[in-house]
Amino acid sequence: MNATLKNLLEELEAFGHANDALIKDRPARMLNITRDTGDFLSVLIKIMSAKRILEIGTSNGYSTLWLADASRPFDGKVTTVEMSRFKIAMAAENFARSGLAEHITQIEGDAGDVLQTAKDAAFDLIFLDSDRAQYDGWWPDLKRVLRCGGLLVVDNATSHAEEMAPFIKAIQADGDFVTSLVPVGKGEFLATREK
Ligand SMILES: C[S@@+](CC[C@H](N)C(=O)[O-])C[C@H]1O[C@@H](n2cnc3c(N)ncnc32)[C@H](O)[C@@H]1O
Repeated sequence: MNATLKNLLEELEAFGHANDALIKDRPARMLNITRDTGDFLSVLIKIMSAKRILEIGTSNGYSTLWLADASRPFDGKVTTVEMSRFKIAMAAENFARSGLAEHITQIEGDAGDVLQTAKDAAFDLIFLDSDRAQYDGWWPDLKRVLRCGGLLVVDNATSHAEEMAPFIKAIQADGDFVTSLVPVGKGEFLATREK
């Protein structure tokens, strides 16, 4: 990671903590992943050489920067979906400052709609960090757009364990996936598609 990106990530961490400590209105909170989750995602991407990455829930782009930086050495591309205009604008500014903008495509819209129009097996890795109440409904398309051998990573699997339980159970019951719950950050649920 170069010094520009390192400094930007540190700045965004400080901003996210200060902002979210002050502001209780959820749409205005950044709700960023933890730094150790960023490290963990980087390792996963590098192990897999994941080039086609989908992120659902951009916020101000903190996690996107980890995904894009990890996949940059093998010319990976991150498509990131967000429905808040305010956050899309913040993320665009951060991507421009990072030098990673050419590796990132921002999509403004509802993730459910974006998933419906995505092609089968379009992605190597999907990072899901969005509106948890919708995950069950998105599951058929999440599965469809993930290639065989691909990996779904879901944030907040331990921080919101009760809320996430039905979604996690549905994936665990799907014979096409092998899963693991990893106690990094807010809890990362991993599901790799075998067939
Ligand atoms: C937890 S935050 C994402 C944090 C980001 N991944 C990070 O770590 O920097 C969740 C984001 O999902 C967005 N979101 C919620 N529902 C959505 C939907 N249906 N479609 C697209 N984005 C949505 C919210 O606006 C919010 O910015």
